[in-house]
Amino acid sequence: MEDRYFIEGGSSLNGTVAISGSKNASLPILVASLLTPDRSVISGVPYLSDIGNMIKMLTELGAQVGCQDHQVTVHARDLQPGDQLCLLAKTMRASFLLMGALLARNGRGCLPLPGGCAIGARPVNLHLKGLARLGAEISIEKGLVTASAKRLRGSEVCLDFPSVGATENIMMAATCAQGVTTLVNAAAEPEIADLALFLNKMGARVTGAGTPVVQIDGGHPLHGVVHTVIPDRIEAGTFMVAAAATRGQVRLKQVIPEHLRAVIAKLREAGAEVEEGTGELFVWAPREFVPLTIETAPHPGFPTDMQPQFAALMATSGGTSRIAETVFESRFLYTQELCRMGACIEYSGDSIIIRGIKALSPARVKITDLRAGAALAIAALSTWGETEIDGIYHLDRGYEELEDKLNGLGARVRRVEEQAANL
Ligand code: EPZ
Repeated sequence: MEDRYFIEGGSSLNGTVAISGSKNASLPILVASLLTPDRSVISGVPYLSDIGNMIKMLTELGAQVGCQDHQVTVHARDLQPGDQLCLLAKTMRASFLLMGALLARNGRGCLPLPGGCAIGARPVNLHLKGLARLGAEISIEKGLVTASAKRLRGSEVCLDFPSVGATENIMMAATCAQGVTTLVNAAAEPEIADLALFLNKMGARVTGAGTPVVQIDGGHPLHGVVHTVIPDRIEAGTFMVAAAATRGQVRLKQVIPEHLRAVIAKLREAGAEVEEGTGELFVWAPREFVPLTIETAPHPGFPTDMQPQFAALMATSGGTSRIAETVFESRFLYTQELCRMGACIEYSGDSIIIRGIKALSPARVKITDLRAGAALAIAALSTWGETEIDGIYHLDRGYEELEDKLNGLGARVRRVEEQAANL
């Protein structure tokens, strides 16, 4: 069922919004809870369809999973091999994170090769190369990846690219390998540090998480833990840009400013005021924004997951802005939809050139992926008139109670379910 948004834009966002727990920290931490036969309790988990899918997969693998008010309890006393996971695992790339945990726990994992999506081919070669370095035998047949190992052993793994997922997969497998694993050129995103904290609470010995060299001294017994995930820095960044684009003033609660350094710097460079408090951020916008040059990069560089949102802001800023995407090979599909709203955006290779205009015009647009949806919602909120947005299920993957939070800030967002919309 494809829900739609009807957004009556043009009014500024004002007020306070509480940010939810991080989707991209919750997913690997839910997987890591499979590494022990004990019960773990994970709090601050957002209600998102991606999380719901991951919980379904844990259950299919034989774990008992309970959910209550953002708290998920996982008890994986014994695990099934997981060969029947295919259908569900196909819908979400993050399911490939299960490979490291299945290998570590069962000595074998069998998962579908994740498909590409609107932002790129999304290969898993770095995951597989790393797991092979730990002693796993890898085979790929008919789109199914099987990894097996009688005993995982610590090793040096050097990643060609600081892949977030590969870092997480290898870290989890390495906690159960005999000996020390040194992961070089590891991803340094805050979600990696949160996963390492969870693993260390379990009894693992991970050092250096959040830096490019992570060491895992594996083979120690792992027990159940209680943990609260970090706030979602991309949801926070999205609301900051929405406040700026609608020329509003918004206070964000439950955030970690440290995780948003590059985003705060770019908003200030564009002319917004950003005040930092303990666990809070306050954003208010100038009348006019100046153009920006942005190049995405692995953390602590400018996050690729904030690239589309800034394009929506720059569409109605002064001058000419340029955004280069260096992390994914094709993350500009959404610009076609912004152009349907009158944005002046040219696409050249790995960059887009945005010529700011006074105002966008309402249109009927379609979401191609999660953060593209965030960009279109921001564009609609800053545009006089009613914009219709198809494909809201993409937003439901990564933003908890989005329309309620936006309407709580003075927006006018109406969600219409498909059968009603067809009448
Ligand atoms: C994680 O995806 C995030 N998802 C993404 O957020 C985020 O955009 C991305 O990291 C980069 O920060 C989750 O954490 C669930 P990568 P992941 O492996 O792990 C290439 C969102 O909107 N690569 O760091 O899949 C890959 O093709 C999502 O919340 C290989 O070539 O990202 C890409 O170009 C979107 N081979 C680059 O590395 C591999 O084996 C970065 O990918 C793995 C990755």
